[in-house]
Amino acid sequence: MSENPNPAHPAEPAASGSRTPYIAGNWKLWGTRAQAAEYCERLLKLLAQPEAAGSAGRAGNGITSRRRPEVGLCVPYTALETVSSALAGSGVIVAAQNMHQAESGAYTGEISAPMLLELGVDAVVLGHSERRQLFGETDRALGEKVPAALEAGLQPILCVGETEEEREAGDMERKLRHQVQEGLEQVADDRLADVLIAYEPIWAIGTGKVATPDQAQEATSFVRALVGDRSKDAAERVRVLYGGSVKPDNAGEILEQADIDGALVGGASLDPDSFARIVAAAE
Ligand code: PGA
Repeated sequence: MSENPNPAHPAEPAASGSRTPYIAGNWKLWGTRAQAAEYCERLLKLLAQPEAAGSAGRAGNGITSRRRPEVGLCVPYTALETVSSALAGSGVIVAAQNMHQAESGAYTGEISAPMLLELGVDAVVLGHSERRQLFGETDRALGEKVPAALEAGLQPILCVGETEEEREAGDMERKLRHQVQEGLEQVADDRLADVLIAYEPIWAIGTGKVATPDQAQEATSFVRALVGDRSKDAAERVRVLYGGSVKPDNAGEILEQADIDGALVGGASLDPDSFARIVAAAE
């Protein structure tokens, strides 16, 4: 891709009302099949009665203030089939946590899009910072994985975010620009809005150190503006999530930010009750 000489310009005033909120739970390395089945049973009960979860976003008259969020679970490969059959017909999205870009080949230990589709998987997390930092995931590979997922019919959830050192050195925008541009480079303009982008500052993941609503809004609006450098229409429609220590008691103030369309939740998604409360905060 040619270097964009101009930094992303500020996004248009956000129209989050026209974008359906999306709350995804990322189990990471948690969830045997037995745990997964038990979890799904409990979650479906909670989602069927949102008031039981204490809906923070509901107006007093019982009319929801925003539209019902889409809900997704990102689970280990071995739990995918259990989760997709437990959630069949519920509308809850089932996501894998990684995928190889090739359909098949000499890539021992890898899993491809057709293998995921066969298990009833709808979406796939790509480029989570733990995969980037601990397992050598590269922007170059992600540039192939994102379009491969889209072409196969899986919704990619592309994760981006800066380290604490990068933020302190004033390098956040440079890092995000690089990750977003490379990840989306081979995606056609008319498919850009089919990618979910999760802004997850690495310093806020699993640390309990949540970004302030202003910090999260500033970065997600920058990510949206980067998409806008490719297509104004896609920038209006693409959903940008925030991730990093989202909990039931901080979800509301984060989710009400104009450019934040949802959350990718790690630790707090392992308990179906707290996950359902975060879903309720997005309503
Ligand atoms: P956390 O994880 O909510 O435990 O910080 C978020 C993530 O890694 O997606």
